[in-house]
Amino acid sequence: MIKVEHLYKNFGDLEVLQDIVTEVKQGEVVAVIGPSGSGKSTLLRCMNLLESPSSGQVLMDDEDLMDPKTNILNVRQKLAWYFSTFIFSRI
Ligand SMILES: Nc1ncnc2c1ncn2[C@@H]1O[C@H](COP(=O)(O)OP(=O)(O)OP(=O)(O)O)[C@@H](O)[C@H]1O
Ligand SMILES: [Mg+2]
Repeated sequence: MIKVEHLYKNFGDLEVLQDIVTEVKQGEVVAVIGPSGSGKSTLLRCMNLLESPSSGQVLMDDEDLMDPKTNILNVRQKLAWYFSTFIFSRI
């Protein structure tokens, strides 16, 4: 289970993520949708610490990713990133 608790992320004055609260249970499929620039990739990057959240918590199986004692490389072994691409189909 991945839990996101009151996550905030800003780049200088730009507040990209504000008070994001969500959880993803094992086996669950969740789509994050929104306009370009709304912060989808930033959210995913915060969820594996490719970006450092400004505040809030990300928990992977109750392990706090921001806890200095957490081995982020071990956590990342449970995460995969699929890059989005355009898909064209003939109709
Ligand atoms: N490292 C960064 N430094 C400064 N601003 C950033 C950085 N990364 C993202 N941003 C800004 O944060 C906002 C959210 O970007 P993000 O890439 O998360 O959006 P997105 O929803 O994934 O967009 P898209 O659908 O185009 O992939 C944008 O305004 C972007 O310019
Ligand atoms: Mg993106």
